[in-house]
Amino acid sequence: MRRLVIVSNRVPPVKGRGRAAAGGLAAGLSSALKAFGGLWFGWSGEVKDTQETKVTTVKQDNYTLATLHLSKENHEEYYNGFANRALWPLCHYRPNLVAYDRSFSVGYYRVNSLFAEAILPLLEADDTVWVQDYHLIPLGAELKRLGARQKIGFFMHIPWPASELVVTLPEHRALVRSMFSYDVVGFQTDRDVQSFLDYVIREADGTLDPDGRVTCFGQTICVRAFPIGIDAKSIAALAVQPEAHEHAVRLVDSLAGRQLIIGVDRLDYSKGIDRRFSAYAKLLVRYPEHKAKVSFLQIAPPSRMDVSAYRAMRRELERLLGRINGEFADYDWVPLRYVNKTYNHMALAGLYRTAQVAFVTPLRDGMNLVAKEYVAAQDPENPGVLILSRFAGAARQLREALIVNPFDEQSMVDALHRGLSMPLEERKSRWRSLMTNVEEHDIGRWRDSFLGALTEA
Ligand code: UDP
Ligand code: G6P
Repeated sequence: MRRLVIVSNRVPPVKGRGRAAAGGLAAGLSSALKAFGGLWFGWSGEVKDTQETKVTTVKQDNYTLATLHLSKENHEEYYNGFANRALWPLCHYRPNLVAYDRSFSVGYYRVNSLFAEAILPLLEADDTVWVQDYHLIPLGAELKRLGARQKIGFFMHIPWPASELVVTLPEHRALVRSMFSYDVVGFQTDRDVQSFLDYVIREADGTLDPDGRVTCFGQTICVRAFPIGIDAKSIAALAVQPEAHEHAVRLVDSLAGRQLIIGVDRLDYSKGIDRRFSAYAKLLVRYPEHKAKVSFLQIAPPSRMDVSAYRAMRRELERLLGRINGEFADYDWVPLRYVNKTYNHMALAGLYRTAQVAFVTPLRDGMNLVAKEYVAAQDPENPGVLILSRFAGAARQLREALIVNPFDEQSMVDALHRGLSMPLEERKSRWRSLMTNVEEHDIGRWRDSFLGALTEA
């Protein structure tokens, strides 16, 4: 493979400008591209009155970052609309939050064509193109329509839902048909692959070939699970850097000897942060021995605030925060700390290492990289405990975590108590198998296995 071209809606910030991007996609791909170099194309993050077609390029690390602004209309219909008011809630099993508006799907296809037209002149004949996530499902078909002959793969970072949900999307058939323009389509887990195949076979008369490939809409493609990982070595190394240690020391000083539970998520309704807060409050009632002996730090950088469901979640979290601290706090103890800030990986590594428990309880999540980062940042001699929702893709790999059902509050309360009280030997033994998994299935393996499948396709 000569050059890798990654296309995603969200790209990392230009160095020296902007904050660290919160979100698994940008975090994962930044480390994937480091190894190869190449081109990364996406939305600049800026919104302008009109849609320009001029692509801005900048070289950073060993790749070229090429970006396009979005017009207000495109931002509203494509990003806020179809991507985040239709596909995101649907794929996270929240049909009650889905808004279908024809203008959204028109805008979605318009931006996908715009991206394809902007990328095409940047492509070289033997490039390998790798398209990322739900914003850009039809991009491969658009590129091929314009004459692209390169190998093109697609990876879906978020869950693929049950067919019963997919068919509620008015343009479900066109959308799935466009996925058959790719050479390889990757999902996070076998379960996502199963749901996708169920749709293909039952709704679109597709067939599974004996070699494992899938034929539908007159095309044969490779469909497989490629669970995304993290750069485990780099997170483990960051966690022992003096700068990470400084963050840890600041946090430890502020805890005055108390234990720490940590949560780190974009402020998103799929993360189940509200249920997490309630479970924590119940812990303090059900197991009063933890009162004044523990603090819960929730880091939640605001995300997609143009979408009303996100604003509603933010208000709900503020309400719960006020209620819980009002009810339980003392003049020298704030039980729940809630921070709407984005931290870089250096700071997060220090904070993860300080926490006795990570409370990772999404209601649905494609993978959840925070769970893996927490494991990688632990002190092997005194590791913390990971509490993980069974509805995160990561739960299929991290089986030695305390697995909970976030819809069952009691299971979360009991897991918190168990995590805070777990003896060192059990923590070490669970952590060792978690860490082995995180190291084996790291970001390099994800990248190489996907690109290997694409090369073979
Ligand atoms: N993240 C970050 N700073 C923050 C909060 C989150 O860098 O303040 C990163 C986090 O370290 C992880 C990613 O954002 O790499 C979140 O990925 P995850 O898969 O957990 O969830 P997503 O946001 O992609 O749904
Ligand atoms: C998830 C999605 C990514 C997205 C990220 C942050 O990880 O799978 O595609 O980039 O969330 O969301 P945002 O809307 O800010 O890009």
